[in-house]
Amino acid sequence: MKKTVVISALAAALTCAGAVGPAGADPVDEQLTIDGEAMITRAKAPEGHPFDEVLSGWLFRTVETRALETDSFTNPGMLEVETGEALWNKVEGTAGKSCASCHGDAAESMKGVAAHYPKWDPETKRPINIELQINKCREKNMGAEPYAFDKGGQKPLTAYIKHQSLGMPVSLDLSEGDMQSWWDKGKERYYLRTGQLNLSCASCHEVSMGKMIRADHLSQGQINGFPTYRLKQGHLISVHNRFRGCIRDTRASYPKAFSDELMALEVYVTWRGTGLSVETPAVRQ
Ligand code: HEC
Ligand code: HEC
Repeated sequence: MKKTVVISALAAALTCAGAVGPAGADPVDEQLTIDGEAMITRAKAPEGHPFDEVLSGWLFRTVETRALETDSFTNPGMLEVETGEALWNKVEGTAGKSCASCHGDAAESMKGVAAHYPKWDPETKRPINIELQINKCREKNMGAEPYAFDKGGQKPLTAYIKHQSLGMPVSLDLSEGDMQSWWDKGKERYYLRTGQLNLSCASCHEVSMGKMIRADHLSQGQINGFPTYRLKQGHLISVHNRFRGCIRDTRASYPKAFSDELMALEVYVTWRGTGLSVETPAVRQ
């Protein structure tokens, strides 16, 4: 009985794209260029992937939202990337150092780095993402306080580092350490149904991909553009914030940022976007 109610709730929320008119039915067949550089928004899926083709969320957005991402001057997220650049050069902590003191020009030292994150961290024996790597350097190498989740410079500095890989294809090395077992855990979490609505990530981003849910066109839920600038919120949104928001939408309580659960999900969801260009900061509704 309860199950029937739940299924009809999703059916009510999901409108067949055909029924709402041609606008925003299938993902568009367009080329994204950013400042004249071509991005990979469609890639052949890696082996074992549920789809044949991996698609960037950009292909599912409206013409206006898509246009904002094509130029650094119109991309509202670029202001926060500039904040990130200032933080890169700012001396903080007891060691009297900035990020630049050790890493120099980020355009060189960070080029391509974030396209391969999360990585295996042999010291903590768990995957590390860019946010946690920044904190590690702040604590260990600068004698500075780590940033609390989504606070201080965490989002702008993460966006600045990821932006140095703009256009480069996402790829993870699952043979490092125990990455494979974290991938397994992340996959399990992806298909786990949660909340009063009894929905998994796959219920929306796999089974219903391409359909309309309320006013939203469901994408594959890729994270190649994070932190993304959301027009609704008017600022950058981190990966773990987005995950938590999607879990909350199933009316379930959500896990802590950087918890094992969300780190495993980040490993797995990053892999689902293998081959897509890093688009940070992407623009979304
Ligand atoms: C005292 C020197 C020092 C400072 C200052 C420093 N780092 Fe690091 N950073 C390192 C070293 C050494 C490594 C490699 C080993 C490790 O992971 O700790 C590293 C690794 C990194 C990596 C991973 C690179 C890769 O190839 O995977 C990133 C990203 C990074 N640092 C960002 C930052 C940021 C952002 C700051 C400023 C908030 C910063 N670092 C400050 C020394 C430093
Ligand atoms: C009830 C449906 C629903 C469920 C369940 C759901 N999402 Fe979403 N999600 C959305 C909608 C709607 C959006 C915004 C439109 C889009 O990009 O698909 C979105 C967006 C996203 C995005 C941003 C994509 C981009 O291109 O910026 C990510 C990442 C994401 N979801 C991941 C997840 C993960 C991981 C889970 C499972 C923990 C999940 N979602 C569960 C509905 C859902």
